Amino acid sequence: MKSSVVVGLQWGDEGKGKLVDQLAQQYDAIVRFNGGGNAGHTVVVGNEKKVFHVLPSAALWRKKLYIGAGVVVDPESLEQELSQNPVNVMVDYRCGLITPFEKWLDKRLEELRGTNAIGTTGRGIGPAYADRMLRVSPRVMDVVYGDFRDLSAVRRLIGGGDGITDEWIEMSRRVLSPIAGDVPGSLLSLYEEGGSILFEGAQGALLDITYGTYPYVTSSNTVASYVGVGAGFPASKIDEVIGVAKLYVTRVGAGPFPTEITGDLSEKIRGKGGEYGSTTGRARRVGWLDMVALKYAISLNEPAKLKLVFTKADVLAGLGDLRAAVAYSVDGKESSNFVDALAGKRVEPVYESFDPIPDVDWESVAKSGWGAAPKQLRNFIDFIQDYLKVEVTEVSIGARRGMSVELRRCAFSS
Ligand code: IMP
Ligand code: MG
Repeated sequence: MKSSVVVGLQWGDEGKGKLVDQLAQQYDAIVRFNGGGNAGHTVVVGNEKKVFHVLPSAALWRKKLYIGAGVVVDPESLEQELSQNPVNVMVDYRCGLITPFEKWLDKRLEELRGTNAIGTTGRGIGPAYADRMLRVSPRVMDVVYGDFRDLSAVRRLIGGGDGITDEWIEMSRRVLSPIAGDVPGSLLSLYEEGGSILFEGAQGALLDITYGTYPYVTSSNTVASYVGVGAGFPASKIDEVIGVAKLYVTRVGAGPFPTEITGDLSEKIRGKGGEYGSTTGRARRVGWLDMVALKYAISLNEPAKLKLVFTKADVLAGLGDLRAAVAYSVDGKESSNFVDALAGKRVEPVYESFDPIPDVDWESVAKSGWGAAPKQLRNFIDFIQDYLKVEVTEVSIGARRGMSVELRRCAFSS
């Protein structure tokens, strides 16, 4: 009986998908609790790459999968994903649904924002969450039981028609009826019978609607404690939080990014790390590891239960110059508070330099273990652990399954 949550500690794309695929074998159920089809969780097996959007990244294992009520679901894209991955999944009755109207409104709002556009994924995510708050969102339950309250008047008021055509209802009912259910009740029974549960976060702490770089954020809470709401599972029963961060940082879409780098080096990192959005194909912005931001993200994710996993160490190798921000300079004063960046102040990163990590045969490091990793990488990780006062349990050194080295066993990975 154990429950763990995997969350991103940056702006998404930290490599959560790979980790969830790797951990999934140890759990009975894998659960999504936030976001929707904006997520692009990549799993690489051999030479094959799989990207999951609304299905948990454990879809390659025969596990019970759940989509909690904190997720917004587009039945059309769910149908597509299911046709490629015939899995055993339950979607909560209370999930809000994305209709053509929300997708239209997402794009229209971006047009209206003009140069202040957020750079959303265009999947209708923001409008879908807003609809719930306005109490005009159709839910899984409404489609399955066919009991639509009249939503059209309010939705027409916003200006795009209501998107809920007879065809849409029929398609949604076909997709959702066989898989709709009560996720909180099912999870609690499973847990009480001794089952173990892995919760898979989408996006990252800095994209959190409340705590992220608002308004350049997604529209759901992305922090671990949102499991309590988004899956209806008691947050007090979470045993461990696995926070995932890249050894550098990326961001796709607009918004503050204190350690952003441009020019040749950013192109090198982008090329080597394949830093293009898995959902939209957009080039990701690239920057140095920001330990001020990371400390902030950790503080929001159950720090006493949190273990850190770093990814993409192999990408930083062989690039020469290596840096990480250890503080900010704000109007000439040193600060180690990410809230200064949130407040739109001009923050200049204060960097520490580290010895370049040489490129090595990472396959053999994966086989031999952490002791075989270049000492420059081990020193870098030691520095980060001391700075953050959080244990790093694993470092990922390649996209494929198995390309990771453990430093210490996670509490439950036996
Ligand atoms: P939305 O979630 O589509 O509304 O997009 C809002 C912001 O979050 C944009 O900057 C997106 O690029 C970003 N975003 C949303 N989902 C992801 C993700 O899974 N990875 C990285 N960025 C994301
Ligand atoms: Mg992604």
